[in-house]
Amino acid sequence: MKNIAIFASGEGSNAEAIAQYFANNDKVCVKCVLTNRQNAGVNQRMEKLGIDTHFFPKESWSNAHEIVDFLQKENIHFIILAGFLAKIEPPIIHSYNHHIINIHPSLLPRYGGKGMWGRHIHEAVIANGDTETGITIHYIDEDIDSGDIIFQAKCEVLPNDTPSTLATRIHSLEHKHYPQVIEMLLIGQQ
Ligand code: GAR
Repeated sequence: MKNIAIFASGEGSNAEAIAQYFANNDKVCVKCVLTNRQNAGVNQRMEKLGIDTHFFPKESWSNAHEIVDFLQKENIHFIILAGFLAKIEPPIIHSYNHHIINIHPSLLPRYGGKGMWGRHIHEAVIANGDTETGITIHYIDEDIDSGDIIFQAKCEVLPNDTPSTLATRIHSLEHKHYPQVIEMLLIGQQ
């Protein structure tokens, strides 16, 4: 059994899609969710699915050894970032080298880097008049949004799109592909 930990800071719709996809799977288990926000929406979603959520304050994420100890105690094999908006410090990256992936709501390297997350990206895509956007799933390294790309998928930007309609289209793409990519990486199937 490969145990996954999901890191999430927000609504947790990706965490939910992943947890539902692997429910009752005999090779992959979503063991727990770690969050840096006490009242994140992901808490309620995971509670409904019977998955434990653990809150760690800012200092724990900055030092990170406490997080690594926790993950090792939980026998975590792979880390999935799903709307996690804090920096992953070197102790975690080194302990889980090439075993941490992130999803980003743009076609990296476009719209990556500091300040580029969630709706800020969709606002910029619309402001620039882009006609397509998409998602990127990538390994993480010590820089922001710069690790090796594993998978990308595109979608249209329609003339009457708002950041909110675009976010909905991007979320659908994420919910469809993220669980499948995780499955491919962990057990070599799609
Ligand atoms: C997702 O669209 C994800 O790609 C994005 O935040 C959203 C979280 O939604 N992540 C980033 O922007 C990271 N740079 P969710 O909480 O409903 O899964």
